[in-house]
Amino acid sequence: MTNRVTIVGSLNVDTTMRIKRMPLPGETISALDKTNAAGGKGANQAVAAARSGAATAFVGQVGDDANGKMMIKSLNEDKVDTTGINVDGKAGTGSAAILLDDDGQNSILVYGGANQELSVKEVEAAKEQIANADFVIAQFETPQDATLRAFQIAKENGVKTILNPAPAHEINPELLKLTDLIIPNETESASLTGIIITDETSMLMSAAKFAQMGVRNLIITVGAKGAFYCTQDGYNFVPAFKVKAVDTTAAGDTFIGALSSQLKPDMSNIEKALSYAQRASSLAVQKLGAMPSIPTHDEVIAASKN
Ligand code: RIB
Repeated sequence: MTNRVTIVGSLNVDTTMRIKRMPLPGETISALDKTNAAGGKGANQAVAAARSGAATAFVGQVGDDANGKMMIKSLNEDKVDTTGINVDGKAGTGSAAILLDDDGQNSILVYGGANQELSVKEVEAAKEQIANADFVIAQFETPQDATLRAFQIAKENGVKTILNPAPAHEINPELLKLTDLIIPNETESASLTGIIITDETSMLMSAAKFAQMGVRNLIITVGAKGAFYCTQDGYNFVPAFKVKAVDTTAAGDTFIGALSSQLKPDMSNIEKALSYAQRASSLAVQKLGAMPSIPTHDEVIAASKN
């Protein structure tokens, strides 16, 4: 069965500068090289889902400019339905400046632009794409009132909702009540629950806290270490595959998009889907760039056999 996945989220053009090491405050250093590529948490997740075989649709907003056209073209090339993307004359297309050092660590500065202007109106206009999905996924690079409306439409139509609370931000409690599965990293989890992730006990305590706030299913991603899940059916920590990372940009996005392509709506196969998603993100970190690094289903399956 092919999952239908709709992403409500951000589209950015990423400018990545490779540097030997991060600059100190007030310091100027030279970049080794500079590349432009499609990115944005929402767009990366959509492409990850689509490359893993999901029928994917996007709801978001770009500016009326060359970057906006490039983003729509990129998603179309990956067969993502872009009819839910609004072109808005007020703000420019979102962009990100990414510093990537020799250890594969990055620092990202995001200009929200048109992403930040996404409103309930654009979400309402894409009602069909939301109502017809198996999963609707959102992040925190677009306004929460737009996400809230998308999740309301999803719930009215029996669609499962996945929230990736990235980058970390204060959350509207109403949004949590409409979230079926939340996928933070350990920092985002701590900022929402107040519980620092150190071990299994702290993860179970976080799961209990999220359940209190209205979300019953949780995955906490813990970088190169792996991911913890907790659902009604049980919990486990699944270690990540050991690889040499050259660029971790979009590793989390690849994980979420790939997961949504494999997960059953009742989440009964969560461990298998999570393991697939980890394989996909282990491939993404071995290549430069956000969207260019996201693997296809065939690549994930081939890597699983090695
Ligand atoms: O998660 C990676 C993404 O974060 C980048 O593609 C960049 O655009 C920022 O949104």
